[in-house]
Amino acid sequence: MAALLRLPVFYVIHIALLSSLSLAADPYVFYDFKLTYITASPLGVAQQVIAVNGKFPGPLLNATTNYNVVVNVHNDLDEPLLLTWPGIEMRKDSWQDGVLGTNCPIPSKWNWTYEFQVKDQIGSYFYFPSLNLQRASGGFGPVIINNRDIIPIPFGQPDGDITLIIGDWYTRNHTALRAALDAGKDLGMPDGVLINGRGPFRYNTSLVPDGIAYETVNVEPGKTYRFRVHNVGTSTSLNFRIQNHNLLLVETEGHYTVQQNYTCLDIHIGQSYSFLVTMDQNASSDYYIAASARFVNESLWQRVTGVAILHYSNSKGPASGPLPDPPNDVYDKTLSMNQAKSIRLNVTASGARPNPQGSFHYGSINVTDTYLLKTVPPLRIGGKLRATLNGISFQNLTTPVRLADQHKVKGVYKLDFPSKPLDRPPKTDISLINGTYKGFIEVVFQNNDTIMQSFHVDGYSCFLVGMDYGDWTENSRGSYNRWDAISRATIQVYPGAWTAIFISLDNPGVWNIRAENLDRWYLGQETYMRIVNPEENGKTEMTPPDNVLYCGALEELQKPQKHSSASPLIPGKRRLFLTVLTALLASSLVFC
Ligand SMILES: *[C@@H]1O[C@H](CO)[C@@H](O)[C@H](O)[C@H]1NC(C)=O
Ligand SMILES: *[C@@H]1O[C@H](CO)[C@@H](O)[C@H](O)[C@H]1NC(C)=O
Ligand SMILES: *[C@@H]1O[C@H](CO)[C@@H](O)[C@H](O)[C@H]1NC(C)=O
Ligand SMILES: *[C@@H]1O[C@H](CO)[C@@H](O)[C@H](O)[C@H]1NC(C)=O
Ligand SMILES: *[C@@H]1O[C@H](CO)[C@@H](O)[C@H](O)[C@H]1NC(C)=O
Ligand SMILES: *[C@@H]1O[C@H](CO)[C@@H](O)[C@H](O)[C@H]1NC(C)=O
Ligand SMILES: *[C@@H]1O[C@H](CO)[C@@H](O)[C@H](O)[C@H]1NC(C)=O
Ligand SMILES: *[C@@H]1O[C@H](CO)[C@@H](O)[C@H](O)[C@H]1NC(C)=O
Ligand SMILES: *[C@@H]1O[C@H](CO)[C@@H](O)[C@H](O)[C@H]1NC(C)=O
Ligand SMILES: *[C@@H]1O[C@H](CO)[C@@H](O)[C@H](O)[C@H]1NC(C)=O
Ligand SMILES: *[C@@H]1O[C@H](CO)[C@@H](O)[C@H](O)[C@H]1NC(C)=O
Ligand SMILES: *[C@@H]1O[C@H](CO)[C@@H](O)[C@H](O)[C@H]1NC(C)=O
Repeated sequence: MAALLRLPVFYVIHIALLSSLSLAADPYVFYDFKLTYITASPLGVAQQVIAVNGKFPGPLLNATTNYNVVVNVHNDLDEPLLLTWPGIEMRKDSWQDGVLGTNCPIPSKWNWTYEFQVKDQIGSYFYFPSLNLQRASGGFGPVIINNRDIIPIPFGQPDGDITLIIGDWYTRNHTALRAALDAGKDLGMPDGVLINGRGPFRYNTSLVPDGIAYETVNVEPGKTYRFRVHNVGTSTSLNFRIQNHNLLLVETEGHYTVQQNYTCLDIHIGQSYSFLVTMDQNASSDYYIAASARFVNESLWQRVTGVAILHYSNSKGPASGPLPDPPNDVYDKTLSMNQAKSIRLNVTASGARPNPQGSFHYGSINVTDTYLLKTVPPLRIGGKLRATLNGISFQNLTTPVRLADQHKVKGVYKLDFPSKPLDRPPKTDISLINGTYKGFIEVVFQNNDTIMQSFHVDGYSCFLVGMDYGDWTENSRGSYNRWDAISRATIQVYPGAWTAIFISLDNPGVWNIRAENLDRWYLGQETYMRIVNPEENGKTEMTPPDNVLYCGALEELQKPQKHSSASPLIPGKRRLFLTVLTALLASSLVFC
């Protein structure tokens, strides 16, 4: 308060305005994303892939902390579409999250404009189409949220920024993969791994056919680059490595890590990492960038390997010989888990805000509720192959949850999701977690399935406090990291093991918790947390946007869309009201 009093009066007025209307002061970025099918042959087989603005992968969405992001999404596919932005927390605004529990699908040939603020966030993420296994055909692209100029990054400014989107890939498209799952089949081994939409460099003539276009990353000797690597695949964990180069891990999903060198790192489905890589080799040849399958029989899955080329400007020739070795731990996967546990938060680094007192002391907060969520291999319910969480396979929601609440539509969902596995037959249902607003919860994922899994929590970044093989018990809490656990949105759970996270439920709305493995998710391995302020006063949660789409029980409220409009992007009403103030505030300081 003392500091505040020393400021000239007009600044104090600005502070008051900013604290209630912070949206207004922050800049806007506008994007137009058109999703279409294009023909591509990343693995030598022509297929329809989903492109964004003609690109596969899609273009970068580049913003800075607290920016308002407006993305007009045009659905030129032949099926409904939603884009989702995992890791972007959509504070108070689950209306923009882009999953079935929060949004009606954008019908084919319609467009819909997302508008959200990347409040208090930094880091590397990606967007993707959330419905119907579409991600297996593309539609994904990178998201970068830069630090504001006033907050330094905890390392020297890199000489360049390089995004690598990696993922397993099928030459069958998403409708064919869907048909396989609908018929009760497993998706089987993928046909390869793509890096930035391209197949492997021909590192082995018997494993890689001739004529495949591969990705080349051009670099200058002596320089240091920030590599942002995202696993957008269907279900395969990938070991990422660059021949002869250390990967200095610096950030994952919006938090700066303790900086450590790795020669390789397992990147699980849905996860994002930033590494600093220094071009400190002699360029006697190009170098391999490899992403190979993990947690499968790796000698049978050799074709599931992505290979790109790191090319120094003074390189003396092509890369040759075998790829750098993957971890040699076929019979002992503790190496991978130990590596995962070594990823910790840099508790003194600033992120979206300055951090003079060090990080949030999550380790000393009392847990208000515990949820033990167990997975088992897919099983049959009513004759259909389904995947479950605590014995419940989620059914398609037809009316978004908060929209149903607003319009007092009953019977859309239940709030009875069990907080631990129950001894009862599995079933399909629309059962949500009744989250307590301002609660501090512990969620334990127990993977009794046979595959490596990732789980994603929308709307939050979660403290990954522990993981181990075997069954979780209350005694497992003794091993939790209560000091510098990494905070992230996509969490790996090893087969036959558990992973525990803490979440501070301060973001009201409805938030998806899902298996990020596309097949399991499609088969129903998800739920939502409904978090509502019991004293809702119009401030804790946003009202629906003006352009909200209606469907399901509210379908009759939806007006048909006119396709003539060619007007430039104009902000919605929530913004129009606020932009009037922008001019007033333009000269003010940027507070956090
Ligand atoms: C997907 O593949 C199937 C054949 O498996 C084909 O009939 C269908 O047209 C393809 N869809 C698209 C969008 O390319
Ligand atoms: C993102 O935008 C900022 C300007 O806001 C620019 O300085 C930066 O180079 C852009 N980043 C990338 C990777 O294009
Ligand atoms: C659809 O796009 C047009 C501009 O092409 C825009 O004016 C309109 O607001 C968009 N519709 C929605 C629902 O976002
Ligand atoms: C943590 O962040 C601080 C502050 O930016 C930085 O100086 C330090 O090098 C980082 N520490 C590690 C171990 O990464
Ligand atoms: C290529 O891969 C095959 C199959 O794994 C292997 O037997 C062969 O040794 C490899 N060739 C080279 C030159 O590494
Ligand atoms: C990481 O490795 C590089 C060499 O590639 C080295 O210069 C640097 O000191 C290492 N950093 C840490 C934190 O170990
Ligand atoms: C470059 O380094 C490699 C090993 O990193 C070494 O085998 C090779 O002889 C070096 N070449 C030159 C020209 O120094
Ligand atoms: C992987 O498959 C190969 C070839 O079928 C087999 O010989 C090997 O035992 C398998 N490895 C494991 C760990 O199951
Ligand atoms: C946590 O709970 C313990 C015992 O139940 C209590 O003594 C302590 O004050 C609580 N801590 C906080 C921060 O509320
Ligand atoms: C969910 O919706 C999709 C697309 O409408 C449909 O193909 C699928 O069968 C539905 N799943 C269930 C379990 O109803
Ligand atoms: C949900 O939890 C709140 C407390 O957070 C409680 O008041 C309410 O009755 C619960 N609703 C249901 C349907 O269980
Ligand atoms: C699944 O759970 C059962 C009973 O706890 C255990 O015996 C089995 O080893 C577990 N399987 C996996 C893959 O975790």
